[in-house]
Order: sequence, then C-alpha cells, then structure tokens
Amino acid sequence: MANIVIVGTQWGDEGKGKIVDLLAEHADIVVRFQGGNNAGHTLVINGKKFICHLIPSGILQGKVCMIGNGVVVDPEVLLQEIKSLSDAGIPIGPQQLRISDKTHLIMPYHKCIDHAREARKGGVKLGTTGRGIGPTYEDKASRHGIRFAELLDEVLFAERVESIVEEKNFYLTHFFSEKPINAGAIIEEYRVYAKRLAPFVTNVSAELEEAIKEGKQVLFEGAQGTHLDIDHGTYPYVTSSNTVAGNACCGSGVGPKTITGVIGIVKAYTTRVGMGPFPSELLDETGDFIQNKGAEFGATTGRRRRCGWLDIVLLKNAARLNGLTGLAITKLDVLGGLNTLKICTGYEYKGKPMREFPANLRVLEACKPIYEALSGWSQDIPDTRALKDLPDATRKYLKRIEELTELPIDIISVGPDRKQTIVKKNPFL
Ligand code: IMP
Repeated sequence: MANIVIVGTQWGDEGKGKIVDLLAEHADIVVRFQGGNNAGHTLVINGKKFICHLIPSGILQGKVCMIGNGVVVDPEVLLQEIKSLSDAGIPIGPQQLRISDKTHLIMPYHKCIDHAREARKGGVKLGTTGRGIGPTYEDKASRHGIRFAELLDEVLFAERVESIVEEKNFYLTHFFSEKPINAGAIIEEYRVYAKRLAPFVTNVSAELEEAIKEGKQVLFEGAQGTHLDIDHGTYPYVTSSNTVAGNACCGSGVGPKTITGVIGIVKAYTTRVGMGPFPSELLDETGDFIQNKGAEFGATTGRRRRCGWLDIVLLKNAARLNGLTGLAITKLDVLGGLNTLKICTGYEYKGKPMREFPANLRVLEACKPIYEALSGWSQDIPDTRALKDLPDATRKYLKRIEELTELPIDIISVGPDRKQTIVKKNPFL
C-alpha cells in the first residue's frame, strides 16, 4: 500500500497537474491539502484542455477527490468549477468530491483586501493572484476565519459575518478608502452556497482514516511550489500556506506515518510568476525562447512567467525540506533546439561560493549563479516513449540532474498529454 505526496520543487507551475492526473490512475483518493484557487492545473486529455483551480486533478480519472482542512475555498469558484466539469461530461456529486468541515472560506472582503493592498503597494507589489488567499489565511491564524462547519449553521454563520464585517469595513474604508461591504448581502449569497455545497461537506480526516484502513491508496496533491512556502520560501514573495510535503498531514488530518513517498515535480528549467529574486533568470533571447516554446503563461492569472535555467540549489533545498524520495521532470521537450544548456550548480556571494539557499532576500538577490554547461539536442522528443530512445544529450542532462540532486528521476514528461510520458518507476506500484 502506498500513500504518495506530490509537491512542486521550484516556484510553482512545475506541471504537477499532469503528473497527479497520471498517477491518480493508481490511487483511490486524491487530496488537496493547501492553497486555494490561486493554483491552476492545466490538463490535456485527448487533446482537450481543462483547468482545475480547486478540485483535485484526480477528478478526471474518476477518483474520489477531497479538499482538506488546509485549503481555503471560494465557494463561488468551486461551484463554477463543478458546473463546468459537469458540462464537459465529468459529473461531480458527493460520491466524487468531499470537502472538510474545517476548511476555511474565502469571503468577499478577503478579495477586496487582497486587491486594495496590492493596489496600495504601487511598484513593490507581491504580485498575488488577487484571489483573497493571504487575507483568508490571516483570518484563520487570527481566529477570525469562517469554516464550512460554520457556513452550514445558518444562525452561527450570520453572527460571525456580522461581527467580522464590522471590523473589515473599518479597515476597508478608513485605511484603503474603499467602499464598505454589506454583511446582509454576504449572508444571502453564502446561504445559497451552503445549500448547494452541504452534501459535499464531511470529516475528511475520519474518511481518510477509514479508507486507509481498508487498504486504499491516497495521493496528496500539493499546490504552488516549495519556494513559495510561507516558512521556507523566498519570504515575503511567497504564498500564505505551507506548500512542503509535511503539510500534507496537517492540511488533511493524517499522521506522518501515513506517507510512504514524496515525489518532487521539477520543470526541466525554472519559471516564476510574480515578484521575488530568481538567481538563474534569463533576461535574454534564450529566456524568450523558453517562454514562447513552453507557453509559459500562468494558468490562473494569464501572466507571463519569468524563465531561467534549472537551479540545483533550489532542488537540493526542496529535496531536504520535503524529504523527496524521487523526482518527476516535466517539459523536457521545451529545451529541444538549444545548442547549449546550463545548470546552476551553486551560487556565488561576494566572490565566495554559497551552497545553501539564503533566507535573507538581499543576499539572494546579490547571489550570482555558478553554471555548468551541457550540450543541447536538436531532435524532437515529444513522441519518445522509452528512455533509450531519447537523444544522448537528453539522457546526459537527466543523468547529471540525478547526480547533482542525489535523487532518481522516476518520471519524464516530454509533452502535455498523458501519453507523452516515460515512467521509469511508478511510486504506487
Ligand atoms: P497568492 O498566493 O495569491 O497570495 O500570491 C502570492 C505569490 O504566490 C505570488 O507571487 C503568486 O504569483 C504566487 N503564486 C500563488 N499561486 C501560485 C501558483 O499556483 N503557481 C505559481 N505561483 C503562484
């Protein structure tokens, strides 16, 4: 029996959705444990594109999907997602989707505050996705949050909203000069969501315990990436939740002994959306080549992603922080056509080598990447289905990543479709 966590090793957008979709075939349950609709998984099935923001990618494999207590949910977005997937022939009822009663709700004032705060920051924005994620986690920590358990109790919900809105309105009007929010309108709007979502709400932790006892296999689907983690990422240019594998336990209500493996998803190069330091960033035509060929635009916000060479310092950091047991490399095909590839093997700070990822962002900003050059390949690889059929230079690139990270690459993705994958070792088998 295997219970596997999938996490991003870089700054998100590593292509986790495709790998989760692929591995979900061997799992019984797929659980999201953090983040919210700031995430976006683009999936291509039989040439058709799907973007899931909240519902775990395993839904397309017909698996039971769960939204753990560590996630923050915008009920309007969730209902829209349920509808559009149902319209596309993927029916979603309480048999397919379970939501923890401890999951916190994104409220209209969270989105207003997220926008108002970013607007006020002028040139030094964090570049959030504007979905209200940060303000929702803030309220969770300050005990001003509202969970599904409260949503389903009409009286309690109204009381909570009324008292919270009073404080939010003071903040919105006095500090941001924004319009006040109407508590009554929120109560009305959310009453409708409560009715529609009530059948999905459950004790996810207890359901997982039961399923695991029965020998069912669970895939824990991380969102964003290790370096967007609130504790371990490039703070403050991070998201508001713990994105590392340890949070699979807290964010879904299982103990650490449940996890049997942790797969780190690594894009064959590095990308980042939003602000923050990025030592191996390419601001030249090679960066443009990767951006264009990789169609590097955010699935949630449509923003152009910044692109750079693969950074081993990031990967080794991710290996330690997540306890990775293997890697899955994605978008390897995008590098085809470049004469030379570079791998950042370390940083240099004030003329001295620096092996660890620094916590101080001023130091990180001043770090210069140390590169190792490898030969590129010109052959197209999206139709390759076996490791031995990859060009020599591609195999050397993969081998060098394994040597430098001291981790096996178990899965190699050479294109967006499920079929465009070479599985060396399936963590569920
Ligand atoms: P927030 O999560 O909307 O608060 O945004 C905080 C930072 O995390 C911003 O730089 C976002 O661009 C980034 N971010 C949030 N979610 C994702 C994601 O799914 N992929 C990549 N970056 C993300």
